[in-house]
Order: sequence, then C-alpha cells, then structure tokens
Amino acid sequence: MSSEPATTDLPEPIEVPEPIAELVRSASTVGVLTGAGMSAESGVPTFRDAQTGLWARYDPMTLATPEAFAEQPDLVWAWYAWRLRLMQEVAPNAGHLALARWGRRVPVGIATQNVDDLHERAGSIDVAHLHGTLFDLRCFDCGRPYHGTVEIPTEQVERLEPPHCQVCFGPVRPGIVWFGEMLPAEAFERAQALAVGVDLLLVVGTSGLVQPAAGIPLLAKTSGVPTIELNPDETPFSDHADQVWRTTAAVGLPAMAALLDDDDRD
Ligand code: APR
Repeated sequence: MSSEPATTDLPEPIEVPEPIAELVRSASTVGVLTGAGMSAESGVPTFRDAQTGLWARYDPMTLATPEAFAEQPDLVWAWYAWRLRLMQEVAPNAGHLALARWGRRVPVGIATQNVDDLHERAGSIDVAHLHGTLFDLRCFDCGRPYHGTVEIPTEQVERLEPPHCQVCFGPVRPGIVWFGEMLPAEAFERAQALAVGVDLLLVVGTSGLVQPAAGIPLLAKTSGVPTIELNPDETPFSDHADQVWRTTAAVGLPAMAALLDDDDRD
C-alpha cells in the first residue's frame, strides 16, 4: 500500500480577484447568463461535439430545424433520443452547485442557453431556458405537452419513431428552440428583466455569438448593472464586461460563492 496521502477530485481552492470579490459581496440580487461552457465540466457535449459516431456525418444545422423534423421525424427524433440518453449519464458540476448554494443566500436568477437540466438538478430554482429544454416534449402538430412514455435507446440508432401525441396523434418533438424558431417569450422576458434589475450579472461559459441571448449582457451594461465574464477564452463581450475572469465555471463559481460563506463566519 502506498504511503502517499489520499487525493480527491476536488480542485484546489483559488483566490477570487479582489474587484470581483467586492462585487460578489455587495450584490443582494444576482443574475447569471449561462452557455455551453457552464456544462462543459459535466461532460455535456456541445452542439457540435455531440456529432459523434453515427451522427458524425450529419450537419446539426440540418437536423435542428422544424423542416428536418417535418421531412424525417424518425431521423431527427433518433438524434434527440440519443442526446436524452447522454443527459442521463451526466451530473451537475461544482459550478452548478455553487450557483444553487449562492441562491440560498441571495436571490439568484439564471437565464441559460443550455437545453440540459443541470441547474435544476443542482438545486437552482429560478431558471429560464432561453433555448428551451430537451425534456419538455410537445406535439409537433398541435403543440400540446406530451407526458407519455419515451423509449430511450441504449445504443445509437439512426431511425426511431417519435412518440405520438395522446390527443391528435401528431409526432412528439423535443421542447428546444430549433434554428429559425422564436425564443420562448417568457424566458426571454425573464432574462431581460434580470439584465436590468439585478445588482450583478455574471456571464458564464457563453461565446456571445448567438442572438438574441448575446444581447443580454449588453443590455445589463447599458442599464448600469455591473457585469463579470467567467470564460477561459475571450469573447466579443469581454471588452465590455466590468470584470473578466479567465477561469472555468467549476473553478470560479465555487470560489465566488464561498465568499458568502466566509462572510457568515465573520
Ligand atoms: N467554463 C466556462 N466557460 C467555458 C468552459 C468552462 N469550463 N469551457 C468552454 N467555455 C466557453 C468557451 O470559451 C466559449 O466561449 O464556453 C463558450 C461556449 O460557447 P458556445 O459553444 O458557442 O456556446 P453558447 O454560447 O452557449 O452557444 C449558444 O448556440 O449552439 C447553439 O443553441 C446552441 O445554446 C447554444 C447557442
């Protein structure tokens, strides 16, 4: 047996840059815009990374459209059924958990572009899904929510008949926003309200390339709400953010949330 001390997977605690720590401590309401980078450390493949195996030869732009589903529902559904399967294998990371913990101290509203449910599984309550979710299934024809059974294949299959609406028998589709579709109005309004109404807006793991979500941090900026970008890489918003922290979600967010724990001990 080795005499080395046991190691854990927990990252080393890191120090929050002081200007960021000040904003964190003084914010009594917090908004968060999250993107694919938020879930990266959970192992959620991004839209393009998800194109592995059977799906590598398909362009996601051609699968993620209402037109594709209308033409080949069994092909498009098989792809989403596979993505649902992948979701069953991932868990919230330390960043999701930190936001949930932070939300138990002060109101934290999250507007996410992610179609996973990792914020909710971590315990966050106030989550608006700008691009919908994989799980809110509804009828493609009549739009009614679908709560029936769903077959999730254990291996990739190229064709899978979607479930059928229990009312009109139309094919069931995932509740995500496909290319060319409008964002859910309620979620977008919630994101806008956060951008103008909180003491601090965090912009975590988003490239800021996809509109209209990319406009949310700029709306905060023009409303005088301080913004902090957490992203290992530069984005078009970086130059506009009040503070930029080149770190990852699962490293930076726990350190920020821990500042509130420290305050409790004072
Ligand atoms: N922590 C924080 N940020 C990260 C991490 C991480 N661990 N890993 C990567 N990032 C950053 C990348 O540097 C990049 O800026 O996350 C960002 C991910 O960018 P995108 O993949 O473009 O994701 P997103 O901004 O959410 O895209 C918006 O586009 O693909 C469509 O509908 C899809 O909702 C998605 C939308």
